[in-house]
Amino acid sequence: MTSHATQSRPPRRTRTRRAVALVAAATLLAAGCHGNNNSQNSLHPDGPDAHKILNLFTPFFFVAVIIGIGVFVATVFVAIRFRERPGNENPKQVHGNSTLEITWTIIPVLILAVMAIFTVPTIFKLAKVPKGPNVIHVDVMAHQWWWEYKYPKENIYTANELHIPIGHPVVLSLTSDNVIHDFWVPELSGKKDVTPGQTNTEVIQAEHPGTYLGQCAEYCGLSHADMRLRVVAQSEADYESWVRGEQAPPSAAAAKEFTKLGQTYLCSSCHMFQGVSKAEVGPNLTHLASRSIFAGGKYELNYDDLWKWVHDAPSRKPNSCPELPQPDPCRVGMPSMAKSYGMTDSQAQAIARFLLTLK
Ligand code: CUA
Repeated sequence: MTSHATQSRPPRRTRTRRAVALVAAATLLAAGCHGNNNSQNSLHPDGPDAHKILNLFTPFFFVAVIIGIGVFVATVFVAIRFRERPGNENPKQVHGNSTLEITWTIIPVLILAVMAIFTVPTIFKLAKVPKGPNVIHVDVMAHQWWWEYKYPKENIYTANELHIPIGHPVVLSLTSDNVIHDFWVPELSGKKDVTPGQTNTEVIQAEHPGTYLGQCAEYCGLSHADMRLRVVAQSEADYESWVRGEQAPPSAAAAKEFTKLGQTYLCSSCHMFQGVSKAEVGPNLTHLASRSIFAGGKYELNYDDLWKWVHDAPSRKPNSCPELPQPDPCRVGMPSMAKSYGMTDSQAQAIARFLLTLK
């Protein structure tokens, strides 16, 4: 029997070329995922919990590869061995064969049971919250689209860039003021959902000084992809000096300047500034220049990006939702000062110069 499908198939050479092109494209795609060091690599753990996760992942990965190869080889073998041939138009049907059905149910059950023996204790270990004088506590609040960090004991309130001392367990109490986000610094630990109305806990710890990149790993709206973060792990001495810097009040001149800005542009109705404003809608600006990033980690802190942000933030990072059927597009985050207050380029540049002095 010759099917119509067989007649309309492209010639074998075309099929081979297509297959080669497909494999080449897949290889290129896979290669694109691998950078020399993209600093966001769960295969390069640098903390105890990240190590536990990798130690579980590695053997499971190879088990999955072996099973995958087995299934692939068996599929190819069966497809060739029992293909349609003269005299084999209707292969023997095995539907309802109890022995086969029980076998291919029991094998996966056994494999999953063995995996569970290793997975369940790891889950409990990861959920353990360390206690003691060397533990650092940080309250993390996820906003659309940036991260707020409060160190209750140190009385610090900062954003996007989390500082931790190496060798100390850091207990993060995670919650959100709007939608579900997900806190993820691959080299330090796994993902943890950040849910409104609930506090989830995650422990991170870095073994070496350095900057560890992370990002929100749960789709949370328009600028989800630009909801990044970084963890700066420092020696004890460097961390202590950072803490003292963050605790310090601003200079009298800076406080005066911010008060003036607040009167003109209402900055103080959203941003905290020690001694001037207690608002917590946007990031605390008291020590903005001590951070290396802003705008939810989308931009490195530099003059050009900062003044453009101050001038017209929505054009630098989408934060409205105009697709909703309502007269005024809803907006979260920094408004356009150009549109709301007619701020000029040079006014924005002056503000950026001031903000960059706030170490
Ligand atoms: Cu926050 Cu995605």
